[in-house]
Amino acid sequence: MTTDAMETHVDTTTAPVDRENSAIAALQSAASSDAAMLEQEIRRLGPWFQNLELAGISTAPEHFLGDYPRNKWSQIASALPMDLSGASVLDVGCNAGFHSFECKRRGAGRVVGVDADPRYLAQARLAARVLQFEVEFRQSSVYCLAEDAERFDYVFFLGLFYHLRYPLYALDLLVRKTRRQLIFQAMVRGEAGAEPAPNYDFWDSTPFRQPGFPAMYFIEHAYAGDGTNWWIPNPGAVEGMLRSAGLRIDAHPEAETWFCSPIAPHEGSYVWDREMEGRP
Ligand SMILES: C[S@@+](CC[C@H](N)C(=O)[O-])C[C@H]1O[C@@H](n2cnc3c(N)ncnc32)[C@H](O)[C@@H]1O
Repeated sequence: MTTDAMETHVDTTTAPVDRENSAIAALQSAASSDAAMLEQEIRRLGPWFQNLELAGISTAPEHFLGDYPRNKWSQIASALPMDLSGASVLDVGCNAGFHSFECKRRGAGRVVGVDADPRYLAQARLAARVLQFEVEFRQSSVYCLAEDAERFDYVFFLGLFYHLRYPLYALDLLVRKTRRQLIFQAMVRGEAGAEPAPNYDFWDSTPFRQPGFPAMYFIEHAYAGDGTNWWIPNPGAVEGMLRSAGLRIDAHPEAETWFCSPIAPHEGSYVWDREMEGRP
């Protein structure tokens, strides 16, 4: 319709205030039908694990861990620089993209979210459109990242370690992909406390009876109704694995989360390379 034609269609029989009110009503009804469509799409892609706020709609309001992962994020967020301008981020096991979006809010540049589950990735893509963040969401298993040489300033490895049959393989390969910090979170059970000894006597079994001796529990069937919860480490095992993978622990802001920097040389000896090549 041309401007002239539009002008000829303006209803001049009603007062300007009435015309304005009916335009507002039309916009409100368009907005409410958009909101209804968004809600429908959110429910179609459900159930959601992460509770995101999308145009006022909560994606997982009934989460058994509360407002998850926002409640966890509020405990760890200050350990990450507020200004991530230009930094690259890899979010492994990204789910619906919560942590990718939080990095974008802080100005991160390239952000890649990787998840094995296409339904979670569809949630993440919808959320990115609504929140207007540019994130590359990619379907892949963490293990496949070994084939890709790209490295990132920050690598998020949250809530995934214990879902893996080969958790150390994944940790070791992600250390190789980290330039500045790897942020690690795992479900943790058992006691903390035992410092690792430089060596243990073959005939002495007392260290293994010590509370908090580094250990991972293997779950054969299911934990919390989930058959992919394979390994649950205690705190000593987490810290020992992080250190032995070539990381320095910088911060441990809450019981399940560690911020770590890679200390292995970048040309040379990552523990992952040594393992793959069969070098001691
Ligand atoms: C407990 S959720 C954690 C989500 C998110 N990182 C967080 O902390 O809120 C685990 C996520 O890891 C994904 N996942 C499971 N196995 C995977 C694998 N081998 N490679 C990549 N992602 C995987 C699941 O699909 C799921 O989205």
